[in-house]
Amino acid sequence: MFITLEGPEGSGKTSHIPPLVEYLRGHGYAVFPTREPGGTSIGEQIREILHDLKNAEMHPRTETLLYQAARSQIVEQVIKPRLADGEIVISDRYSDSTIAYQGYGHRQDLEQIRRLVQYATDGLVPHLTVLLDLDVEIGLSRKKKGEEWNRLDAYTVEFHRRVRTGYLNMAKTEPHRWVVVNAEREWDIVQAELRKAIMEKLNP
Ligand code: TMP
Repeated sequence: MFITLEGPEGSGKTSHIPPLVEYLRGHGYAVFPTREPGGTSIGEQIREILHDLKNAEMHPRTETLLYQAARSQIVEQVIKPRLADGEIVISDRYSDSTIAYQGYGHRQDLEQIRRLVQYATDGLVPHLTVLLDLDVEIGLSRKKKGEEWNRLDAYTVEFHRRVRTGYLNMAKTEPHRWVVVNAEREWDIVQAELRKAIMEKLNP
């Protein structure tokens, strides 16, 4: 089972994954957490380039391609082999981030972006994607207080609003794959909803 967590900046995805993994392991599941961009040595090097505030001149197409380069590596090196071993892979972001950020955010042609994503993932689509949804300004102000303020966070609020709209459109278009969780609420409530969504998918 392949599960992805998605959301705009400051949605708290990253803080929810370790307790989620612990909870699922406590229920006897083999779980492997990972993140994008990153999760492999090559991917972490690409992440450095993508997030470096010094790279302000990066063109959206360059950005798009670098995310796909990191993605194809993690798909082949980590995700496919773990899934083949019967593990649950939980990824902090995956291909829907590209549709939301590089597609909706940068207003690039969505069909072209989808084709690139299909190429990078070799067609591997998550079984479940949870969107941690929240108001963009609340999210950005949360993120600003945290430790990792990256090149993409520095895009305009309008960019981040388009990202959120993109996510909500995707969730509406593919309701069998997506679960939307309101991430403006207290952490414990959000964690409980995440656990419920995953357990329901694992035990339909
Ligand atoms: P994060 O680790 O804070 O979620 O940072 C990842 C950043 O990269 C975040 O700003 C979203 C962005 N991103 C994209 O723009 N496209 C992608 O395909 C992925 C995986 C991430």
